[in-house]
Amino acid sequence: MNYPYQLTSYEAYKAAYQKSIAEPEVFWGEVAAHFTWQKKWDSVLSWNFQDPKVQWFAGAQLNITENCIDRHLATRANQAAIVWESNHPNEDSRTLTYLELYHQVQQFANVLLNNGVQKGDRVCIYMGMIPELAIATLACARIGAIHSVIFGGFSAQAIADRLADAGAKYIITCDGAYRGAKDIPLKEVIDEALVANQTVQRVIVYMRTKTTITMMPQRDVWWEEEIQKVQDMGNPPVEPAAMDAEDILFILYTSGSTGKPKGVVHTTAGYMVWTNYTFVNVFQYQPGQIHFCTADIGWITGHSYIIYGPLSAGATTLMFEGIPTWPNAGRFWEIVEKYKVDILYTAPTAIRSLMGCGLEPIQGKDLSSLKVLGSVGEPINEEAWHWYHEYIGQKRCPIVDTWWQTETGGVMISNLAGITPEKPSYATFPLPGVQPCLVDESGLEIEGNGVNGNLCIKFPWPGMIRTTYNDHERCRQTYFSTYPNLYFTGDGCLRDENGMYRITGRVDDVLNVSGHRIGTAEVENAINSHQGVIESAVVGYPHDLKGQGIFAYVILANSAFNEEESKKEITQTVAKLIGPIAKPDQILFVPGLPKTRSGKIMRRILRKIAEGDTGNLGDISTLLDPSLVNLIIKEKKR
Ligand code: PRX
Repeated sequence: MNYPYQLTSYEAYKAAYQKSIAEPEVFWGEVAAHFTWQKKWDSVLSWNFQDPKVQWFAGAQLNITENCIDRHLATRANQAAIVWESNHPNEDSRTLTYLELYHQVQQFANVLLNNGVQKGDRVCIYMGMIPELAIATLACARIGAIHSVIFGGFSAQAIADRLADAGAKYIITCDGAYRGAKDIPLKEVIDEALVANQTVQRVIVYMRTKTTITMMPQRDVWWEEEIQKVQDMGNPPVEPAAMDAEDILFILYTSGSTGKPKGVVHTTAGYMVWTNYTFVNVFQYQPGQIHFCTADIGWITGHSYIIYGPLSAGATTLMFEGIPTWPNAGRFWEIVEKYKVDILYTAPTAIRSLMGCGLEPIQGKDLSSLKVLGSVGEPINEEAWHWYHEYIGQKRCPIVDTWWQTETGGVMISNLAGITPEKPSYATFPLPGVQPCLVDESGLEIEGNGVNGNLCIKFPWPGMIRTTYNDHERCRQTYFSTYPNLYFTGDGCLRDENGMYRITGRVDDVLNVSGHRIGTAEVENAINSHQGVIESAVVGYPHDLKGQGIFAYVILANSAFNEEESKKEITQTVAKLIGPIAKPDQILFVPGLPKTRSGKIMRRILRKIAEGDTGNLGDISTLLDPSLVNLIIKEKKR
């Protein structure tokens, strides 16, 4: 067996789970022993959830790239590490073997060093899905710089906020990125994001789309020219920097229930062990298989299951630049056939949109290489689950429904492919090391089965969030203060008669739109910045394709307005301030918002109205002006 800690039977899972609870330090010490350490740890775990302060493998030193690359060279130098498929079906694919990845990561690490990047510096990466994105990320980790990858769909303002929060000194970007029929001008967006920036010293630009861009002298340099310089210097080897177990590996910004995105911090050793362990066990990866995770590296799924999980396991990871529906809805299936993909890991929103395209795009495609299917990012509805199972998995492939979050670093609750039981729309059982519990509003634990509650985690796991960058108090408040001594996930959940978990969705003001996490407060802030807007309230509503759609109730200052024009302007404002992913699906102009006497917006009522469920609005007598509700309903029906 290739991975001594791979669980290959239901009994083995149960035994591992028990051990991980009874003797967590022994359990994780044994798993961690299979990695490459420059110095061994002094203690496996120390923790408290009050500060919170969690340390895994304290005292150890390591470099994650040594584990993701160097240690595989003896056995896998010529095996593909990264296989890349272009956005354009006719462009040649690219393969980087482990040996090539080793050279390219060091070469770019030399570029970073040559440009003055030091251990601990924050490097923002804003690129399309090309191998250079993975290379840049790994090169940062090689020298101990902290990477913060920003998804290509975020706007200049959103980037500017993140750059300022992280105090980023360096940016790595592209002239542009291809996404389906679109060519996104990444460098132009970066230029705009940098207008008022005080910290960024250098921007390294990789040429992908040959879009015309402006290079600012002193600040901007071309990737290729920088590579040439280090080659001229003889391209010396870059030894993997000795990182402390708890040194920051990366910051990844994500939305919460306040207006300001927070920088989730993951540290080196725990994150590595966790992404590797979950990758190997959830997907039951076998050496030689092709793993295709369709996420973007700008999200946690891409970090953990395109880069760090697969590469630390010596796997072949497939990176796709494009989108599932361009130039046609058969794109994923073409890729599965072309590379004989073994594991396909995608999001319910993609499944639903492909389902909507009918069976024709699948016909004639050879999907027989598939062995495991995965789902992530949002609850998968039963209809989508069955379609995925029947037409993609051809009833042969287990589907792993993986519940986790940016903050958890890797999968927390999921079946293990073909090993533990599955149940449509259930994430099922916790992974070893994960101790979930359900609590009621007052924080009391709800014991037993067949119950509903708010999902919390009782005990630390190696991949958990350590802090929110620059603002530890925010981390404490958001995750550790709602219920004392518990990590609060923000999700509602039910546990069925057999103890299987089903995630029912967020219970806070966070939306999940096409698997993208968006805070309602963020969207409201953006809408309110439009000069014609007095106030707004944003809620989610069920959306066939996106899972959740964004519904915005808006009060305008001037009643003599052009409705269509105003909607357009508001939508543009949101796209400008956050990005196209946060555009409202529906905007309703209203005379007022339902508020309690203390001025709190009653979102419950707005959610019901957005859902079209106005028959049962519950008690509205506590509203300052109950008559508003009928006015809003009337407006919606108009
Ligand atoms: O509500 C849960 C939902 O996505 C949230 C986390 O979003 P994000 O940090 O962007 O990470 C997404 C990729 C891991 C969770 O709080 N979610 C994620 N996976 C599932 C899910 N909801 C139901 N089932 C899932 N499998």
